[in-house]
Amino acid sequence: MSDTKSLPVIANRKGYYYEIKAGKRYLWCSCGRSKSQPFCDGSHAGTGFLPVAHKAERDEDVIFCGCKHTATPPFCDGAHSNLPGGYLTDEPDSSENRRIAMRAAGPEPIVQLDGRCYVFATSRASLTSQGAMGYCPVVSPATGAQFQSQFYAEVVRGASPVISADGRHTVLFVTEGAGEIEIGGRRFPVGARTGIYIRPSEAYRIHNENTALVKLFISNGPGSEDLVWLDDMPTNFEAQFPQREATVDPAQRHKMAERYYQMLVNREHGSTVVTQFIGNIPLSKAEPHRHLYEEALIFLNGAGVVWTETVKTTVAAGDVLFLPRKQLHSVQCTTPGGFDIVGVIYPGDNPSINY
Ligand code: FES
Repeated sequence: MSDTKSLPVIANRKGYYYEIKAGKRYLWCSCGRSKSQPFCDGSHAGTGFLPVAHKAERDEDVIFCGCKHTATPPFCDGAHSNLPGGYLTDEPDSSENRRIAMRAAGPEPIVQLDGRCYVFATSRASLTSQGAMGYCPVVSPATGAQFQSQFYAEVVRGASPVISADGRHTVLFVTEGAGEIEIGGRRFPVGARTGIYIRPSEAYRIHNENTALVKLFISNGPGSEDLVWLDDMPTNFEAQFPQREATVDPAQRHKMAERYYQMLVNREHGSTVVTQFIGNIPLSKAEPHRHLYEEALIFLNGAGVVWTETVKTTVAAGDVLFLPRKQLHSVQCTTPGGFDIVGVIYPGDNPSINY
């Protein structure tokens, strides 16, 4: 076989969204030569490639691989982000993009974009006091979330009230300050940029003994409208899940061309309902795309613009972007150092899969 025949053709540099039906069999094109992408039309004859069959067990939204470089055929695994030519970007000043209107922030924390997508500025939020903690909802079923909630919290010197996980997988991310997270009586030291996982049957509180303020985000899934308070810390700690902290480790980065991400809390910790990652977006505007997961994306530094179909708005450190499933969007970073971001996604555990 010649070299040209041993390589798949890149049919599309993004995945193909498709609604598969229970019991139906799909024949995915692996060679990239089919004219009826993403499915086989027999054009692989003589190439050495064979189609990959998939029988759907249930009705499901999927993303079939379009670049033919996936390691999880027939589905997209994000491999298209690392193809020669790099991550797909977009020209913010194109004539099409110049038609997209800038929506300025008002006094309220939320700037609404298209669909149920919005940006929430923690800097404009009013916090409700609960003992040593002030907090506010950022993402919840009331704001359109299907799978998760997110709360922003600040803890002054002392200890926050005891918070019940209330049957939900709970993931924390500390953005500023340092202290300890107590889970069922066990204490874990935390500093800025630490993720923490709490099991659904447990309760937790934040101790701040040395810093002016501990700032953190509390995510849970399934989502709730509010946090649930307890008078005392129960002793329950699910010892079969000992790994609770997740810290930044450059050795664990997954590269996506000039971008990268690192998983923080995920299935390896036992979290099957929410997945947390930290990543970096360089000075650029991503090509508009969609995900099958719902996402809350926290901006840790830098500045930029979030775009949906007809509107865009600026974002800065401390803002959160809420992205419903399948929402067309593009994040643009306008600062040379790039954005560091923390995402919480569900369903799914791979933030590089898009279409
Ligand atoms: S046409 Fe590509 S695998 Fe059949």
